[in-house]
Amino acid sequence: MSTHEVVETNTGLLVLLTLIVISIGGLTEIVPLFFLKQTTQPVEGVKPYTALQLEGRDVYIKNGCNTCHSQMIRPFRAETERYGHYSVAGEFVYDHPFLWGSKRTGPDLARVGGRYSDDWHRAHLNNPRDVVPESNMPAFPWLETTKLDTSLIQKKMRVMNTLISATCDGCETYSEEEIARAPEAIKGKTELDALVAYLQSLGAAISKR
Ligand code: HEC
Repeated sequence: MSTHEVVETNTGLLVLLTLIVISIGGLTEIVPLFFLKQTTQPVEGVKPYTALQLEGRDVYIKNGCNTCHSQMIRPFRAETERYGHYSVAGEFVYDHPFLWGSKRTGPDLARVGGRYSDDWHRAHLNNPRDVVPESNMPAFPWLETTKLDTSLIQKKMRVMNTLISATCDGCETYSEEEIARAPEAIKGKTELDALVAYLQSLGAAISKR
């Protein structure tokens, strides 16, 4: 019996050897990431989300925006010409969980910050067809009339502090003073205010090309 035959006629052995081969491949890809500073350090100009932007991010997730929009520009010409500089790891150090995604019913939003005015976003979210007649994005008219709940923001900032310090070298965390001021800072604001503030922050640290 040749060695090859032994392996191919013995399922247990085949599974074991396959796992060993896959592990070597996996480890060679994953282990270096633990030692690469550039994956855990913020890109210059990337700041923690303000209290309002942090709430906006939750509004984004709550309304399922991430089911139609990715936030990850791949390093290909077709992508960079359309959206701007490709996404880099250090831009996402304050994103827990990250919202990269791969499903694009609508355009990628990784660099949408600063591309349109606040008024454009407000009109667009209220009824996309008012500014983009051919749009098939759903309307989100309740955002404008729903006030933010201020009772959880301090807890959210503390959780972010824990996650940031556990995963990032050289990142800023929220100070006690910022946390103390947060409920006042978002008081009376609507979900639409928060969402627009969040959208305007996306990708703004790296200039568009
Ligand atoms: C069912 C899929 C779908 C959902 C859900 C969705 N969108 Fe969209 N979005 C689109 C499509 C399609 C477009 C392109 C047409 C347009 O501009 O309206 C778009 C465009 C956009 C644009 C303009 C992007 C650009 O570069 O021109 C923004 C900003 C945006 N969406 C934000 C949001 C936000 C915020 C939410 C959640 C509140 C959301 N979208 C939910 C499909 C969706």
